Amino acid sequence: MQAVSALLLLLPAAFAAQAPQFEPPSAGPLVPSSNYVGSSNSTLNKTTVVAGKQFDRIVQIWLENTDFESANSTATFTNLAKQGVLLDQYYALTHPSEPNYVAVVGGDFWGMADDQFYNIPANISTVVDLLEAKNVSWASYQENLPTDGFSGFNFTSENYLNGSAPPYTYYVRKHNPTIIYDSVASVPSRAALHRNFNDFAADVNASALPQWLFVTPNLVNDAHDTTIDFAGQWVDYFLTPLLSDTRFNDNKTLIVLTFDETETYTVNNRILTLLLGGAVPENLRGTVDHTYYTHYSALSTVEANWGLGSLGRGDTNKTLSNVFSFVADATGYKNLNISGAAIPLTNATGTIPGPLNANFYVPFTAPNVSATGAGGGPVFIAQGLNVNLTAATAPAPVNLTAANETVPALGPIGGTSAAPSPSGSGKPSGAVESVVAGKAAGAALLGALLGSAALFL
Ligand SMILES: *[C@@H]1O[C@H](CO)[C@@H](O)[C@H](O)[C@H]1NC(C)=O
Ligand SMILES: *[C@@H]1O[C@H](CO)[C@@H](O)[C@H](O)[C@H]1NC(C)=O
Ligand SMILES: *[C@@H]1O[C@H](CO)[C@@H](O)[C@H](O)[C@H]1NC(C)=O
Ligand SMILES: *[C@@H]1O[C@H](CO)[C@@H](O)[C@H](O)[C@H]1NC(C)=O
Ligand SMILES: *[C@@H]1O[C@H](CO)[C@@H](O)[C@H](O)[C@H]1NC(C)=O
Ligand SMILES: *[C@@H]1O[C@H](CO)[C@@H](O)[C@H](O)[C@H]1NC(C)=O
Ligand SMILES: *[C@@H]1O[C@H](CO)[C@@H](O)[C@H](O)[C@H]1NC(C)=O
Ligand SMILES: *[C@@H]1O[C@H](CO)[C@@H](O)[C@H](O)[C@H]1NC(C)=O
Ligand SMILES: *[C@@H]1O[C@H](CO)[C@@H](O)[C@H](O)[C@H]1NC(C)=O
Ligand SMILES: *[C@@H]1O[C@H](CO)[C@@H](O)[C@H](O)[C@H]1NC(C)=O
Ligand SMILES: *[C@@H]1O[C@H](CO)[C@@H](O)[C@H](O)[C@H]1NC(C)=O
Ligand SMILES: *[C@@H]1O[C@H](CO)[C@@H](O)[C@H](O)[C@H]1NC(C)=O
Repeated sequence: MQAVSALLLLLPAAFAAQAPQFEPPSAGPLVPSSNYVGSSNSTLNKTTVVAGKQFDRIVQIWLENTDFESANSTATFTNLAKQGVLLDQYYALTHPSEPNYVAVVGGDFWGMADDQFYNIPANISTVVDLLEAKNVSWASYQENLPTDGFSGFNFTSENYLNGSAPPYTYYVRKHNPTIIYDSVASVPSRAALHRNFNDFAADVNASALPQWLFVTPNLVNDAHDTTIDFAGQWVDYFLTPLLSDTRFNDNKTLIVLTFDETETYTVNNRILTLLLGGAVPENLRGTVDHTYYTHYSALSTVEANWGLGSLGRGDTNKTLSNVFSFVADATGYKNLNISGAAIPLTNATGTIPGPLNANFYVPFTAPNVSATGAGGGPVFIAQGLNVNLTAATAPAPVNLTAANETVPALGPIGGTSAAPSPSGSGKPSGAVESVVAGKAAGAALLGALLGSAALFL
């Protein structure tokens, strides 16, 4: 274990020495590529568009680990800001990555303070339940996901930035928010909506994009393993051409380009967010909106737009869930005016009790079933939910770590491997074998997690 830690510490230095340069993974965002791993087998079925009050489609694109000032001094973002609205008081919710991702779809980060393999139990609902209740279509596009519905911890494939380097881990589960929830992952038709960028290309080409999309670039393109300049080049490559393609962006499309969290933990968690797309009113393009928002605003905005129910979690906490202002205006939602010292500090990590915090463990509790969210609909009650187990009736936090225990939702990390260890052969044939081996290992892990009946590859 110590040897592994020492090796991990050396990695950034080795990586910096190589200073990877951006390379387009394909000839264009709508051109298939083996760099995205599995080729597309089908497009999504076209569905009836459910009209929203301000937009009919929302595309959330998440980049990684960048302070506001850093993104705001990068040309890609300052140029794009001229076409949309810059949100300069938008905050992530905690550190590190994974809790922010689970929060933007589930309305809570459950006390999580790490990036481990979790399976959030099936009685915990997400935005997927709210969307499906109104027949609003959705999908999660993950750049290097090997196969549709893959639920493994990560995936390693041929290094397309450096053909003589070993295969590279481009895909990680911790950036694929909905797959972490069993209410999504254990339903095969839902699991299948986790698709890679070959599927994305096929879906756009077929004019079959859904109405709610989450888009995660791979670990180099999202700045996680690289720099904001590298990610900016990816945005120029991927997003900029799509902005003028009406199969992606029409006058009822809202695009939210944001970051999971700041790089610096010792400042509050302000990140740069751009609202782009044809649904942004023309008179607001090139403006700055100083309203206080958090990742929960992405939930409340969707709820307001389609008149959805709510999760009764952070999405209904009025302080943390202001609706993007032009959507609030269109739907009659009243935002709170929160500024200066009233802005909560959301840069803490590890100190918030929850069912995914082993040092301050409390069980999963029911949402506030009497909450009213921005959509006005009822709080979604998942199957198997004990509505009587509430925050008020839950036991006090306990320290499982001190008892040499882990939280029940922690997956078998360090057990079955989701990915092959890099072969180091560097030969293209070795890389291909690595991809194949990874699929087999991924299938084994998925089978172990979900049972063979739910095996979906
Ligand atoms: C599309 O619809 C067909 C027929 O209902 C179904 O068999 C297929 O699984 C659907 N495809 C997707 C990607 O959901
Ligand atoms: C963001 O960058 C733009 C362009 O450099 C600048 O005009 C603006 O003042 C910056 N905004 C903030 C909030 O720092
Ligand atoms: C959703 O679609 C199903 C099947 O077409 C239909 O029965 C149901 O009424 C729809 N629900 C809503 C809220 O539109
Ligand atoms: C399509 O099916 C093939 C054969 O099963 C598989 O290798 C490939 O990964 C699939 N593609 C996706 C995106 O699931
Ligand atoms: C939006 O696009 C539709 C379809 O292309 C078109 O009919 C409509 O006039 C457009 N609306 C505006 C306000 O541009
Ligand atoms: C969070 O940010 C505040 C404001 O910058 C700072 O005072 C505080 O020390 C930070 N907290 C942590 C845990 O770093
Ligand atoms: C809403 O969020 C604020 C800021 O984090 C927090 O102080 C407050 O306790 C939350 N309200 C509820 C009802 O959880
Ligand atoms: C959720 O389900 C788990 C079992 O999977 C159960 O232990 C827990 O009490 C349930 N929690 C609630 C709030 O219903
Ligand atoms: C919850 O409490 C109500 C009222 O006390 C009771 O009728 C119901 O059976 C309880 N439900 C569960 C799952 O314990
Ligand atoms: C929980 O227990 C661990 C192991 O004994 C200890 O390191 C940690 O400080 C404890 N945390 C709290 C919040 O008491
Ligand atoms: C903690 O549990 C593990 C696994 O059951 C065991 O190997 C280890 O000895 C335990 N450590 C302590 C301090 O009890
Ligand atoms: C990938 O997953 C394996 C366990 O399956 C783990 O040991 C390894 O650290 C992970 N790598 C990354 C980059 O997440």
